[in-house]
Amino acid sequence: MKRKPIPFSELLIQAHTIWSRQWLVLTCGDFVSSKFNSMTVGWGSFGTMWNVPMAQVVVRPTRYTYQFMEQYGTFTLCALGKKYRDSLKILGSCSGRDRDKISEAGLTPIPSSKVAAPGFAQAQLIVELKKIYWDDFKPGHFLDPSIEKQYPLKDYHRMYFGEVLAISGTESYSII
Ligand SMILES: Cc1cc2nc3c(=O)[nH]c(=O)nc-3n(C[C@H](O)[C@H](O)[C@H](O)COP(=O)(O)O)c2cc1C
Repeated sequence: MKRKPIPFSELLIQAHTIWSRQWLVLTCGDFVSSKFNSMTVGWGSFGTMWNVPMAQVVVRPTRYTYQFMEQYGTFTLCALGKKYRDSLKILGSCSGRDRDKISEAGLTPIPSSKVAAPGFAQAQLIVELKKIYWDDFKPGHFLDPSIEKQYPLKDYHRMYFGEVLAISGTESYSII
């Protein structure tokens, strides 16, 4: 996939759709030691916090990826083209605890430019992030009672903010 570096100020995304319909792959760990895991994410955001460009993701403690998010300081978010829909389904339904789902999904991990966590050769967009904040959702703070229905197992997400350190993407992800 032909990608070029994209400054955050020139990143072109559909703020809601990229999460809710396109989905992203969250990968955390270390490429060099081959200790990393990936999962599909559909909830999160890109924005600005404490004057830095950031992305926010939420990970339930039941995910294998959660252990990596706790242990490692960096992660990546990758967008894949439509033909990788089945790959996203595999990463979003199987656990890396049990199988090599990244190979099964037909994805090739590649080193990132600034962080230890890998991206994927097939990705149209790779965002490299450094963890800067976390917090746990508190059910007592849900102002809309319907939110609680998302947690029948009470496995409330841990939220992570990552500072964006680098972005590379295909031309369609750049306003220039
Ligand atoms: C479209 C889609 C979006 C998802 N979004 C999230 C999410 O934002 N946070 C989360 O904790 N799990 C999310 N999941 C579930 C995980 O991707 C799934 O449980 C995965 O198998 C976890 O893998 P792991 O155990 O290897 O970490 C999503 C699944 C799908 C299919």
